[in-house]
Amino acid sequence: MGKSLFRKLFLVYAGVLTAVVVVLSLILSVLYTNRMYEEKRQSLSSAGTMANRAMGEYLDGLIGKDRLSQNMDMIGYIADARIYAIRYNEENLAEIAAQLADESQADEELMTDMSALLGGEQVFHTRAYSAKLDTDVVLAGFPMTQGNEILGGILMYAPLDRVTRDVLQMNYVVLGIAIGALLVGTLFLLQLTGKILQPIRDMQLAAVRLASGESAAPIPIHSLDEIGRLAKAFNHMQEQLMKTEEVRRGFIANVSHELRTPLTSIRGFLQGMIDGVIRQEAVREHLLLMMDEVMRLNKLTGEILDLAKLQSGTLLLMKERTDLRLLVMETVASLKGLLGERFLQLEVEAGEPVFAYVDPDRMRQVLVNLVGNAVKFTPDGGRVGVSVSRDGSEVLLDVHDTGIGIPEAELPLIFDKFHRVDKSGNPAYGGSGLGLNIARTVVELHRGWITARRLPEGGTAFTVGLPEN
Ligand SMILES: Nc1ncnc2c1ncn2[C@@H]1O[C@H](COP(=O)(O)OP(=O)(O)O)[C@@H](O)[C@H]1O
Ligand SMILES: [Mg+2]
Repeated sequence: MGKSLFRKLFLVYAGVLTAVVVVLSLILSVLYTNRMYEEKRQSLSSAGTMANRAMGEYLDGLIGKDRLSQNMDMIGYIADARIYAIRYNEENLAEIAAQLADESQADEELMTDMSALLGGEQVFHTRAYSAKLDTDVVLAGFPMTQGNEILGGILMYAPLDRVTRDVLQMNYVVLGIAIGALLVGTLFLLQLTGKILQPIRDMQLAAVRLASGESAAPIPIHSLDEIGRLAKAFNHMQEQLMKTEEVRRGFIANVSHELRTPLTSIRGFLQGMIDGVIRQEAVREHLLLMMDEVMRLNKLTGEILDLAKLQSGTLLLMKERTDLRLLVMETVASLKGLLGERFLQLEVEAGEPVFAYVDPDRMRQVLVNLVGNAVKFTPDGGRVGVSVSRDGSEVLLDVHDTGIGIPEAELPLIFDKFHRVDKSGNPAYGGSGLGLNIARTVVELHRGWITARRLPEGGTAFTVGLPEN
């Protein structure tokens, strides 16, 4: 993984660098060469003028031959050029050209240039190869004049090897800088990719460990860039996964425990009957006890199933416009039947119909649990009240009792799965501890809320808030 990311970055970097270097050295070479040619042209042009003047002075007899050649040498030295001042005309042009050129045969170009000079023109060539000087040269030619008369031409060859050398040197420098940049850049790139890849590698390893069910240490976060944020998100995900796993383990442990308790007692009773330890007269009583346990198991498995449905998110609420007051009255009436010989006041406190858009079956389930709890945890002589009211666009259901109450510290916990305040296993308070969790989930699916509080006069009140629609 590391190699491939580094290679990609390196290729891009090297490619860009090469392109920049090539373009840069091309531009520099062209600019420099053009400038040198321009300079040459100017210096040759003034050298030509001087040479013509010196020639004129000689022809006028103002200076001698020695002085002439001295002057010419000096002009040639200053202009860095070889200077030929030649008298010729159309007739001997070919012959003179042949002498100038290396080969016995004069080249076409030279002859064309020389006849152009006779016609009064100037010539300037860049990059003509001179065999005599064995290098590329600039050739500049001027007509040689005396008064208005054209006597021949002044030909100057300036070698270009210095320009070529300079350009070459310049390109070497550019190349050197490029190689330096490549080396330094590669080092940086190596360091950078290493830094980028370390957390990614860590995450890869951690993901493998997580997938195989092991726990992994959190990824250290060194920066707050994209990678740092990814690592942070990864750590968060890992934390959540561990939490979920813990909850799942706890849930399974709880379920097994809850299932085992009634099963153990049923098995005990059955064993007693089989072994004949239980007398004939007591059989019926034990069968009733077993019936209780079976009912408990039945209730528990039903609740676990509900929970699974609610948590998988596949549960669809069948919402309809429902009169909650009516729903409460019906539910309470049916629960009254279960009170049996218990001496308890169970009342609905609601005047007018209160409509809300809810799933009536699910809301009945919530009510059964809340009222069932209130009845269960309120001793004889107590009172359980249910009220329905409206608060703005919200509908409030209130279930309050004068029962044993819930300790302040337990209030935040009672909605957790399997949480029961009384853990002694008092059969009067029997239950799985799933009811309130299911109730809260149903209420929240309705976008509502549920709270519990201690009442000042003792007892407990649960309030459910539901949006009207
Ligand atoms: N009205 C109430 N008065 C006192 N305690 C209550 C009341 N309602 C709930 N509780 C406490 O909250 C716990 C969880 O309730 P719930 O989830 O319905 O489980 P269960 O009814 O199966 O015990 C109960 O075991 C009980 O300790
Ligand atoms: Mg309950």
